[in-house]
Amino acid sequence: MTEVAISAPAKVILFGEHAVVYGQPAIAVPVPARRAEAVVTASAAGSGLCIQAMDLNEILPISVDTETVDNALILTAQSALRALEIDQPPDAIIALKSTIPVASGLGSGAAVSAVVARAVAQAVGKTFDRETLNELVYEIEKVYHGTPSGIDNTVIVYESAVYFVRHHPIEFLNLAEPITLVIADTGHPAPTRITVGDVRKLYEHDPANTQPLFDQIGDIVNVARAALERGDLPTLGRSMLINHDLLRKLTVSSNELDDLVDVAMKAGALGAKLSGGGRGGNMIALVDAEHAEVVRSALLTAGAADAFITVIP
Ligand code: PMV
Repeated sequence: MTEVAISAPAKVILFGEHAVVYGQPAIAVPVPARRAEAVVTASAAGSGLCIQAMDLNEILPISVDTETVDNALILTAQSALRALEIDQPPDAIIALKSTIPVASGLGSGAAVSAVVARAVAQAVGKTFDRETLNELVYEIEKVYHGTPSGIDNTVIVYESAVYFVRHHPIEFLNLAEPITLVIADTGHPAPTRITVGDVRKLYEHDPANTQPLFDQIGDIVNVARAALERGDLPTLGRSMLINHDLLRKLTVSSNELDDLVDVAMKAGALGAKLSGGGRGGNMIALVDAEHAEVVRSALLTAGAADAFITVIP
C-alpha cells in the first residue's frame, strides 16, 4: 500500500442551529482552512490495525472482538470495518491529527470520524461512497451527541455548503460569491449535548413561547439563503444579528459570545453570531475582505482565545 493522506474540513453553521433539531432549515458551510487529517501506512504482517492519535499522543489498537463505545476513534474504526464486511483488521497504521478545536462548534467530532472511516477503507483497499459514509458518521454522532440533526456530518462528508432540513434530501447551495468570515474561539469548550438538552427542556416547559422562536429562526434561514444566492452581504449580515438574538432567547448564548458579537460589529463586521451549540465555542463574523484583519485583531484584543480569517468559496 502506498502512503495515502486523507482529510476532512471543519464546518460552521451559518444559520439555523438548534431550530434545525425541530425540523427548521439550517445552512452550514465547510471551513477548508481547518482540517482533520490521516495518513495510512502499511505495517508489519500480523501487527494489526492501530490509530496513532497524534494530538493525544496515544496509540489505539483496533480489535473487532468487542465494541468499544468509550472511545469514538476506536468505535468509528470498528463501525467502518463492519460496514466494509471485514472480519480481520488489516496491518496498517492510521496517523491522525487535527487542527479543528474540539467541542467548539466547528464539527471536530464529525470530521475526525469521517477521516478515520475513510482511512480504514483505504487500509483495506476500498472506498466508501458519500452516502454510506454520511450514514456511518451520523451513527457515531448519535452515540456521542444525543440527538444530532445530522447537519455536521452532511456538510463535512460532502464538503459543500448545504441547506439542511432534517429527514429531507440534502440541498447543496451555490454561493453567488465567496464570503469572508472571521471565526473566533471563546476558548471555552461547550458540549453541544448540554445546550441541546437545555433547549429541549425550554421547549417542553414552554412550547407556546419556544416554538415561535424556532419558526422565526426558520424564516431568517430562508432570508439568508436567498441573500447568499444573490451575493447580498448586507442582508446576510443583518440576518446573522437577528439569528444571534433569537439564539440568545433560546438561552444558548453567553456574555462572552454577546461581547464578541458587539466587538466584531464595532470593528466593522457586516454581521456576527454564535455558531453551533453555543454557551462557548465559536462565534462567526461576516466581513468585507478589507475589514477582516481589523475585526480579527479586535476580537483577539477583546479576549478571544483564537481568531482566524477564512474565505468560504
Ligand atoms: O455544536 P455543533 O457545531 O456540533 O452544532 C450543533 C448544532 C445544533 O443545531 C445545536 C445541534 C444539531 O445537532 O444540529
